[in-house]
Amino acid sequence: MRKRFMTDQSEINEYVNRWFAAEDEVLQWVQQTSREQGLPPISVQPFEGKLLHMLVHLIGARKAVEIGTLGGYSGIWLARALPDDGQLFTLDISEKHAEVARAAFERAKVSDKVEIWVGNANENLHRLDASGPFDFIFIDADKTSYPQYLTWSIENLRKGGIVCAHNALRRGAVIQPEGEDNLALAEFNRRIAEDERLMGHLLTIGDGLAVGVRK
Ligand SMILES: C[S@@+](CC[C@H](N)C(=O)[O-])C[C@H]1O[C@@H](n2cnc3c(N)ncnc32)[C@H](O)[C@@H]1O
Repeated sequence: MRKRFMTDQSEINEYVNRWFAAEDEVLQWVQQTSREQGLPPISVQPFEGKLLHMLVHLIGARKAVEIGTLGGYSGIWLARALPDDGQLFTLDISEKHAEVARAAFERAKVSDKVEIWVGNANENLHRLDASGPFDFIFIDADKTSYPQYLTWSIENLRKGGIVCAHNALRRGAVIQPEGEDNLALAEFNRRIAEDERLMGHLLTIGDGLAVGVRK
């Protein structure tokens, strides 16, 4: 008789991380430093970072935007996939987070490719228009603004460019959404699925990664 396996999701994640997304010394240092500096443990997981890295690489992205820097963890995965003359603009409202991320990008030797913009992303994004169009946009900040971030992304992505969003499932709360954050994510997912300018999907890894390819 065939054996059935019931494996805990965290064991599966560990397995995937071990084989496909092992953190080097720099990424481990970034996570440890972020903890020591009191930053919340809300970065992407290694297997998500690796997927972002692969997508950036796959489309030969040169110019990327990240909304939500935190301590620079996902930013390093993104920046490492860009060519030497590539650019990552990463936006965060917190000067403290930006300071931790600055040290992380130095340590990862990607500072030459990364600009950190401190302030409310809803305001700063419009100042970024002139540097576009962009190849890749990663959304991972305040949930209520996801729909606005999507509007900006669709207008500022090149054809074939990709927009990705973290926490798209909200642990399933988007199915029958209640509360501002979950309602915003449900609206965001509906638009990724229905907007004719995008080819959309929602990958059920981690807490969900929504992906839209600009047509
Ligand atoms: C989930 S964390 C980002 C994690 C990061 N992408 C990673 O995986 O390493 C969300 C970040 O968004 C920032 N943030 C929240 N509201 C924002 C806003 N209105 N504009 C810019 N950044 C904001 C927070 O300060 C926080 O650092």
